[in-house]
Amino acid sequence: MNKKISAVISNMLSRKSTDDFIAQSKTTELKKTLNIFDLLILGISAVVGTGIFTIIGSAIVGSSDGPGAGTAVIISMLIAATASLFSALAYSEIAAMIPVAGSTYTFTYATMGEFMAWMVGWVLMLEYAIGNITVATAWTGYFSQLLKGFKHILPEFVVNFPIWLRNDFRSIYAMCDKYGWDVHEKMPFINLPFGIEMPIAVNIPAIFIVLVLTILLIKGVKESTRVAGIMVFVNLSIIVSFVLVGSKYVAPSNWVPFAPNGFEGILAGTFIIFFAYIGFDAISTAAEETKNPQRDLPAAILGTLIICTVLYVSVALVLTGIIPIGNIDTQAPLAHAMRAIGKNWYAGAISVGALCALTSVLLVYQLGTTRILYAIARDNFLPKNIMSISKKFHTPHIITWISGLIVIIGSLFMDLNISAELCNYGTFASFVIICIEVLILRKTEPDRHRPFKVPFCPLFPILGILMCSCFMIYKGLSGGDSSLYFLLWIIMGLSIYVFYGYKNKHLKD
Ligand code: ALA
Repeated sequence: MNKKISAVISNMLSRKSTDDFIAQSKTTELKKTLNIFDLLILGISAVVGTGIFTIIGSAIVGSSDGPGAGTAVIISMLIAATASLFSALAYSEIAAMIPVAGSTYTFTYATMGEFMAWMVGWVLMLEYAIGNITVATAWTGYFSQLLKGFKHILPEFVVNFPIWLRNDFRSIYAMCDKYGWDVHEKMPFINLPFGIEMPIAVNIPAIFIVLVLTILLIKGVKESTRVAGIMVFVNLSIIVSFVLVGSKYVAPSNWVPFAPNGFEGILAGTFIIFFAYIGFDAISTAAEETKNPQRDLPAAILGTLIICTVLYVSVALVLTGIIPIGNIDTQAPLAHAMRAIGKNWYAGAISVGALCALTSVLLVYQLGTTRILYAIARDNFLPKNIMSISKKFHTPHIITWISGLIVIIGSLFMDLNISAELCNYGTFASFVIICIEVLILRKTEPDRHRPFKVPFCPLFPILGILMCSCFMIYKGLSGGDSSLYFLLWIIMGLSIYVFYGYKNKHLKD
């Protein structure tokens, strides 16, 4: 019996060797072509999206899951940027040292063993697949605003189509609470036994865009830095022009009180606005292709953080300055703010820019989900037949469909804030793990060549661990549905490993 238990424990702790990973990576000789500008474009295109175009509204106003920060959201942004910095540096050290696909999942397999690798892969699904529920929901918000811009051309039933066809049921309950509407007039219900009523709400635009992108990915869409460059140009122009146009309408009296919900609001705001900074791993994963990683990686990470923070803070000051906090929209705040000051055509332009930004984030994250699921299935934690490659398009079609379906089904049950918070939980957890891994590898493999090293180690990784853990603990203690869902997600991951993953892996390996 004891022998059996120790065999199980040793399996759970078994690691894949760093040398194997590195040998594997050497078979794909990547050219070292990227300079600091390429890295900045990569970073900004992965980072700028839903956070600044949509979530900023909930971070300022608050949501069913926490109070808002008000104008003090700018403090929340600075805190979130600092936590991102420590983790991004840690990512860069490991990504440059073990330059292989699979993100934190792969690094964890090399440092902490099989069980932790599975759990990290499972938690990464929160960052990628659940995060995409947020982006798809935000896409609907700007799509609806865009339709409003065409109200003189389009029929009324298209411009103002029923809210139960463009929201999840939680959002409709929240709207009914806010505006005093009768929920039975806003969405249909199905009567179930025992007097239970089931609300029906289907976010059609979100489902539509996810379906389109799933089909595109199956057909094999190639990302190119040129497209990323154009997207960054569109994003940044729209954001900068929002600040320039809006700044003329700022009334400083709207900034008072600066922090209506005090420190609690600032912390809740930090937890949710952190979503706006997610995406830094994109820079670090390009470490192997960077000409001068030791100089350019930290410069690009810092540069992206500084550029995004300056943009985010400017947008927050203008948004809270032009309309009173209580009137800020949480679905499409920037376009709505422009409409509120009478700039209708400009609201339309913002909606187009936001739709471009959100579509590119959706595509990158959908692709990320399939890559991680693929790496996990290849290691036998999930059935291998889901890796099947389409004969016609040569892409992993089953995994791509699974990734799309997770987002579509999730969008029926989760609202934008809950999915963003869950995604943040997943990202904080993976940031903690990556900082721990830097510390482990510095001890276990001190002599391994590191093209990039985290400065002030161990201080910076420890600060990263402390900051990210504190946010998770703070959110856990303050309750809310997302904390419960995070716990359920962890229990689900553990159960799949115990009842399926472990057995399948050791049967097939
Ligand atoms: N940071 C990315 C966004 O805001 C995930 O959409």
